Amino acid sequence: MDIRLKEVSKSFGKVPVLKNVSMEIRQGDIICLLGPSGSGKSTLIRLMLGALAADSGEIRFGDTRVPNLPLLGNVGYMPQNDAVYTDLSGEANLTFFGRLHSIPRALLKERIEAVLEMTDLTCDRNKLVRDYSGGMKKRLSLAAALLHEPEVLLLDEPTVGIDPVLRKKIWEAFRELQARGKSIVVTTHVMDEVAWCDKAALLYGGEVIEYGAVDELLKKTEQGRIEELFFRASSGEREEVSS
Ligand SMILES: Nc1ncnc2c1ncn2[C@@H]1O[C@H](COP(=O)(O)OP(=O)(O)OP(=O)(O)O)[C@@H](O)[C@H]1O
Ligand SMILES: [Mg+2]
Repeated sequence: MDIRLKEVSKSFGKVPVLKNVSMEIRQGDIICLLGPSGSGKSTLIRLMLGALAADSGEIRFGDTRVPNLPLLGNVGYMPQNDAVYTDLSGEANLTFFGRLHSIPRALLKERIEAVLEMTDLTCDRNKLVRDYSGGMKKRLSLAAALLHEPEVLLLDEPTVGIDPVLRKKIWEAFRELQARGKSIVVTTHVMDEVAWCDKAALLYGGEVIEYGAVDELLKKTEQGRIEELFFRASSGEREEVSS
């Protein structure tokens, strides 16, 4: 399923957060949304999910315009703040989310094993989530987003608080999902993670200042570090917005 954003704008009160954001995400792409804190990454993800309405512009998943309730069956969303139940165990959370998605019982058992394994939570499945560490909650939240094998994953900072070894494992899992045709949109603060993505969108001052293949973006830098493009934007030397 291709995703198209066309001139999407969003303000909160009088404060514009996103201005005319246009972007095309092809099926099977892994896209990284990069930008400083407050640049509108989470807002953009929530607009794509349909949890927020844009002031103008449109977002389409294939031919379907967002917001669209049935579409959510095909989307896995991981919010920046973990949306898991602390008075349930990890496994009970997954059972709950699986039932919400109407996953048949036998398949759900299989899927729970798979996502626990992928997020390295198999041994902690019976622990109450209130006794989980921050990184464990994060991983459980990711497991919940993957449970129903959605076509599109919208992941808001999925690897924050996760150690480098597990982070690598998670990115390898994203690559596997990509090989199966899933599209993945990930926000991150970790500039190194860009290397795992096909394309990156750089958000700055409410606009997409760069969007393109990661290797092409890196060619525009002097030292091969993506953050140089932000330094350039902040010093006013911004190149023309690519779309
Ligand atoms: N519901 C809301 N009401 C009012 N302002 C909001 C709301 N949601 C976000 N904002 C504002 O919009 C701007 C962008 O916020 P957003 O959460 O999208 O940034 P972000 O890039 O995800 O930041 P971070 O990297 O810190 O997660 C911020 O100034 C924030 O205060
Ligand atoms: Mg955010």
